[in-house]
Amino acid sequence: MREIRLSPSGAFDNSARHHRFIDVRPIAAAMGAEASGVNLADLSDGAFGEIRQALCRHKMLFIRSQHLTHAEHERFAARFGDFAPDAYTQGVAGHRNVQPVIKEADHRSKAMFGSGWHTDSPFLPSPPSITILRSVEVPPYGGDTVWADCALAMRMLSPAMQNMLRPLKVLMSARSNAFTQEKIAGKPLAFADTESRDAAFTGTAHPLVRVHPETGEEALYIDEVYASGIDGMTEAESRPLLDFLVRHITQHGFTCRLRWEAGMVVMWDNRSCLHIAANDFDGFRREMYRTTLA
Ligand code: SIN
Repeated sequence: MREIRLSPSGAFDNSARHHRFIDVRPIAAAMGAEASGVNLADLSDGAFGEIRQALCRHKMLFIRSQHLTHAEHERFAARFGDFAPDAYTQGVAGHRNVQPVIKEADHRSKAMFGSGWHTDSPFLPSPPSITILRSVEVPPYGGDTVWADCALAMRMLSPAMQNMLRPLKVLMSARSNAFTQEKIAGKPLAFADTESRDAAFTGTAHPLVRVHPETGEEALYIDEVYASGIDGMTEAESRPLLDFLVRHITQHGFTCRLRWEAGMVVMWDNRSCLHIAANDFDGFRREMYRTTLA
């Protein structure tokens, strides 16, 4: 099959807006930006408002040298709104909403948490809008995270394809990912509790094309890990369409990539991008913590 390599001429829209309290520098043509000039542990309302705007615009925003504690991470995240439930863990001691994402140096596995293209927990009836991930320890190389812009991907489809997709609903479920992970790791994927696991396996059908509540942008809502079918279609009908859309969204030109440093805070908008973590740092420890917003 011929691969798709589209140059989105005229469709890139990742330039920085002028801000008063923060500096913003895009890191790729498609999406993603670095914000600087702020201390997230002590942030004015003005600076927070600009961070929120910049996050919606660039879809992924990172800030270096923050070194937040769990409490500071939780306090910063809470400014965005209510926390989302987490299906996978009960959080760290004393901080229910701070989820550990840790891979030990001696843990060798062909798959790790986040190592397939996905949007966070789309099997939930109300999936998380925003994820905030902070790095404590990072490998000297490897372990990068890559994001792909689902709104740019939507704009780059033909009007005929866009119209065909708009009324569709995609079924998101954790079932097949959990079985794959279990086969690779030789042990069941951990869930917070049985109830969370059952609900994640049953999954939810969501609109395949979403309209972002703050920007009004249309974006494709589909991924490689959880999208398991399309409402009203047979497996034979839906599979080629799901595969095509994931290949289309994740093509190089629609992505940005982050080389982690310890002490970073990275946030992304699950309504308008996918992400994947590279599982390429065997022998090194990677310690991250994440919060998700409803
Ligand atoms: C995630 O998928 O939420 C984690 C991504 C990462 O570890 O880089």
